[in-house]
Amino acid sequence: MAGLRLENLRKKFGAIEIIKGVDLDISDGEFVVFVGPSGCGKSTLLRMIAGLEDITAGDLFIDGARCNEMEPRERGIAMVFQSYALYPHLSVFDNMSFGLTLDRRPKAEIEARVREAARILKLEELLHRRPAQLSGGQRQRVAIGRAIVRKPSVFLFDEPLSNLDAALRMDMRMEIARLHKELGATMIYVTHDQVEAMTLADKIVVLDGGKVQQVGAPIELYKKPANRFVAGFIGSPKMNFLDVTVTRVADGSAQVESPSVAPVAVQASGFAAGDRAVLGVRPQALRDGGATALGSIKGHVSLVERLGHETIVSLDTASGERALAAIPQDATYEPGSAVTFGFDPGAAHLFAA
Ligand SMILES: Nc1ncnc2c1ncn2[C@@H]1O[C@H](COP(=O)(O)OP(=O)(O)OP(=O)(O)O)[C@@H](O)[C@H]1O
Ligand SMILES: [Mg+2]
Repeated sequence: MAGLRLENLRKKFGAIEIIKGVDLDISDGEFVVFVGPSGCGKSTLLRMIAGLEDITAGDLFIDGARCNEMEPRERGIAMVFQSYALYPHLSVFDNMSFGLTLDRRPKAEIEARVREAARILKLEELLHRRPAQLSGGQRQRVAIGRAIVRKPSVFLFDEPLSNLDAALRMDMRMEIARLHKELGATMIYVTHDQVEAMTLADKIVVLDGGKVQQVGAPIELYKKPANRFVAGFIGSPKMNFLDVTVTRVADGSAQVESPSVAPVAVQASGFAAGDRAVLGVRPQALRDGGATALGSIKGHVSLVERLGHETIVSLDTASGERALAAIPQDATYEPGSAVTFGFDPGAAHLFAA
């Protein structure tokens, strides 16, 4: 088992800096999820930790030891790739034992480790099959099994479930959560999937442009995003952002309004009357009817998506902006009709324009 420490980690490809000084502490046994837009450097950072990319500057510590120059095999790390990367001509057993055979481990030990991994991953019946004879989810489990047999102290997962259909993803997500409990190993996991990030992580790291934007527990990031980027990235559908003007400030709050947002006081500091600002309200915070709510947004319905358990209403506001409301039941709205959605100001955020 091992913790990790990244100190001002940097990576350049030629003249272009891709990872721009990442500091991060990961405790022994922690489940850390990296999220961020495509191209922000998630895979690069994972590959630097694995030793598959060299580190341009900064220091990487695993279990207290600096290992910038250490060979990948010596780092006690195993990586699971999105593409599985299984050997098609080898059986499941041989795919899983491949690394151990290369390491010249005794035959009995290899046999025992593969059987144990197969038990954990429910692959015992499939050990003689070739990858082509497996479903996508089974192949993914073999790729994870190949990592488990090496008994790494740190697992790195790069979008391991993105090739699977929705139902299988959910099964595998639960498997991975169970695996983390059973093995107690440190896990670093890259994903684009909001639900995976929110449910698996002890800690989420939000990256953008090669820099850490915020690190925290999933709910902390959801409720207290440090900036507009994190606010827009965590949560689905995305948080609504509406241009507003600050009309009054008081201790710890600012009153804002716009042609579509009725005057409302929101918790905020660092604003002055007359400032332009951006009001952030999650679609789930919007409720039909403005009368009883303390904040409200008005506009015309442009699109209604009825999902059964919830209804997503798109609103064209009087200020010419688009806002989404997620109503937690089936509801009907006439496109073109005027509506007002209310919200609790306690659930709203204010960002600098
Ligand atoms: N070997 C390389 N040479 C030059 N540039 C590279 C190399 N590998 C990655 N990059 C660039 O580094 C940036 C980060 O890539 P990376 O693969 O880490 O992104 P990512 O966050 O994993 O994205 P995605 O979500 O699409 O997988 C990209 O702009 C990419 O083009
Ligand atoms: Mg990637």
